[in-house]
Amino acid sequence: MKRFLIRTYGCQMNVHDSEKISNLLHHAGLRPAAAEAEADLLLINTCSIRDKAEHRLYSDLGALRSWKSERPRRVLAVGGCVAQQEGDTLLGRFSHVDFVFGTHNLRWVPSLVEAALAGERGVQVEETSSPERFDLPERHPAYAGERVGRAFLTVMEGCDMFCSFCIVPRTRGREISRPAAGILSEARALVARGVREFTLLGQTVNAYGRHERRRGKETVAGTLGFAELLYRLTEIPGVTRLRYISPHPIFFEEELIRAHAELASLCPHVHLPLQSGSDAVLARMRRRYTAERYLAIAEALRRARPDIALTTDLIVGFPGESETDFEATLRLMREVHFVDSYSFKYSPRPGTAALRLPDAVPAEVAQERLERLQGLQRHLTFEAHRARRGQLTEVLLEGLSRRGGRQWMGRDPYHRVVNLIPPPGEPWSVGQSVRVRIAEATPHSLIGEPLDVGQAIPFEECATGIA
Ligand code: SAH
Ligand code: SF4
Ligand code: F3S
Repeated sequence: MKRFLIRTYGCQMNVHDSEKISNLLHHAGLRPAAAEAEADLLLINTCSIRDKAEHRLYSDLGALRSWKSERPRRVLAVGGCVAQQEGDTLLGRFSHVDFVFGTHNLRWVPSLVEAALAGERGVQVEETSSPERFDLPERHPAYAGERVGRAFLTVMEGCDMFCSFCIVPRTRGREISRPAAGILSEARALVARGVREFTLLGQTVNAYGRHERRRGKETVAGTLGFAELLYRLTEIPGVTRLRYISPHPIFFEEELIRAHAELASLCPHVHLPLQSGSDAVLARMRRRYTAERYLAIAEALRRARPDIALTTDLIVGFPGESETDFEATLRLMREVHFVDSYSFKYSPRPGTAALRLPDAVPAEVAQERLERLQGLQRHLTFEAHRARRGQLTEVLLEGLSRRGGRQWMGRDPYHRVVNLIPPPGEPWSVGQSVRVRIAEATPHSLIGEPLDVGQAIPFEECATGIA
């Protein structure tokens, strides 16, 4: 029996694509390898969002020459966003790569593997506009999923926004929504396998169904609006926690805000990418909203769900960003009081509109801004954590803490990491939910004290949010 291993870079979409590939390979009769040394097949699922991410592939491929030459019948494959971007040039440049597959071609991986085992090299990177790409087999009995108790659920793919800095519309193709019937039936099948927390995925997840509705396809595809989809999912018994990533501010409609007020199982956490707090920079980024509009969404969400935790993505050093522009970002960060953020220095990407913009920000200025921004975020995060002390919440256990010893880690409904120690004699398992009191705050995480010592609480009985 052939053994495979997948190396994954990039965002949740890539993590989930790797899960889909793993499931397809299980169906094709392959099984996972414990280590690269024993793998017959190695797939690299790549990311191209910044220059550094793309270069990770090239350094990996350099290092993997010996892996391949040790046993030349081994198969090396490249998929994901760099594969979509580069296509067959990868085969030309790297003679030890057997096949290349794009972001729309996961279904072809088993046949590409078969051809590669027979000695053929191949490329499959065509974009398809058909929703057939969502028709993937159910989880194979031997494939438990990588995230016990939790699962990603694809609701839409691709991006039509073309923000001027971003390569994703070129690597993920045009926006397409998955028929609602398929989403709901996948959720039901996963609940039957013990999944309780669902994260809906899409590059602009809350734009769900917009093209299909406009083209009058909703009766054919059964596609709903995003908020309606959330309501339908929460009606499925066993769907205890619902998250979604990444929403775009311009599709943040009234119904979605109302859903946060009305749906107890919709987690009180929204990751809403801001990018910059300066209107001039936002306009050059082609983000199509202003700082004021963003703030209005944050305030409406807070009115709907006062305990909501907001996190974001930010870019510093975008062409033409002045010190005043940058300070507007810091100001907005304080005003919204983000609980956390991912921040990046602008990285020019091939084929994007921002390449033509003048007034590049010098590297050392961008670095200095990134450090100031991250310093402010550390302060805001620690403050938000300290405000949680004494609160009751519930933690979905993800596994033993990396710190070692008896400590476990999990996440609360606000998506914060909580570390906790099981009471003596209480056997915990991954995917279980534990009710805790937040005892202590650290800059990066929370420390929880389990309640109800000696009593296992079924997940269904744990409320979302503050008890
Ligand atoms: N669809 C999401 C973001 C996906 S990319 C949205 O609309 O916001 C994830 C994050 O990477 C972005 O939010 C942005 O902050 C960052 N990013 C994307 N392109 C980048 C680039 N060229 N340089 C630096 N950061 C970038
Ligand atoms: Fe990139 Fe903008 Fe699309 Fe997000 S919305 S994936 S940042 S182009
Ligand atoms: Fe990277 Fe592609 Fe995601 S570029 S961030 S893996 S959509």
